[in-house]
Amino acid sequence: MPTTRRRTTGPAGHAYRALGDPRARPNLRWLRELSGADPGAIASVLSELDGFAAVEAEIRRRHREGGRAHYAQFRAPFEAYALVRLLRPDHVVETGVSSGVSSAHFLLALRQNGGGTLHSVDRPLPQRGAKFRPNESPVALPPGRETGWAVPEELRRGWDLRIGASEEVLPELVRELPSIGIFLHDSRHTPRHLTFELETVHPRLAVPAVVLADNTVWTGQAFPRFARALGWPVRRRGRSDLVGLLRSL
Ligand SMILES: C[S@@+](CC[C@H](N)C(=O)[O-])C[C@H]1O[C@@H](n2cnc3c(N)ncnc32)[C@H](O)[C@@H]1O
Repeated sequence: MPTTRRRTTGPAGHAYRALGDPRARPNLRWLRELSGADPGAIASVLSELDGFAAVEAEIRRRHREGGRAHYAQFRAPFEAYALVRLLRPDHVVETGVSSGVSSAHFLLALRQNGGGTLHSVDRPLPQRGAKFRPNESPVALPPGRETGWAVPEELRRGWDLRIGASEEVLPELVRELPSIGIFLHDSRHTPRHLTFELETVHPRLAVPAVVLADNTVWTGQAFPRFARALGWPVRRRGRSDLVGLLRSL
């Protein structure tokens, strides 16, 4: 009997529907700019994600249980996955974990690569009361939860998660690493703090390396200034304020 395949809404369509955040639809142009990979290679790694729809559904379930329905703080989880698959970094560093959407996708891709480590730094912000209030930051930890609370158990093995302010934790972490293939800033969004993080990781950036920064609407010229100093163009994800650069040969 002929089988009918469910139509997806584009690359990783099943995965992004399972995660339940329409903003997460992958931006192919941004991925091309940041990876330097050809469209076939990008389509190939994104198509893997449809096999992980159960992982996405588990992240969504955990968000719902924690009172954060439709919450995915980081809007480019599938690009995070694809960049790790395409660049195959030994070390990925991120600041700002919250429930762990970006972390889960980095971890998934590293597992698929068969090697490499995610190092994450987070100083959690506890939710003020038992119930989430509309005037509160959605990144706050619901009662009884810990940093990375939406990351499925099966992905946590080997995760180097360090709790503390990145001002204190990041310099020591960077000193321990031989190289950083991907860096994501998603912690304290001020110009001064972003500059501090970029200057801290800079000496260890691999070639190639991708550097990402979210919420740059709040960080002024910090990222463009860093990109200019390195000599690589700033790549913006569509019209959002999530930006990145590819440092290549
Ligand atoms: C925007 S959320 C991170 C979202 C996350 N990347 C995701 O994919 O869901 C920002 C996180 O950074 C934490 N944070 C804020 N300031 C920080 C600092 N100075 N050092 C480390 N973490 C910080 C917040 O408490 C919060 O957990």
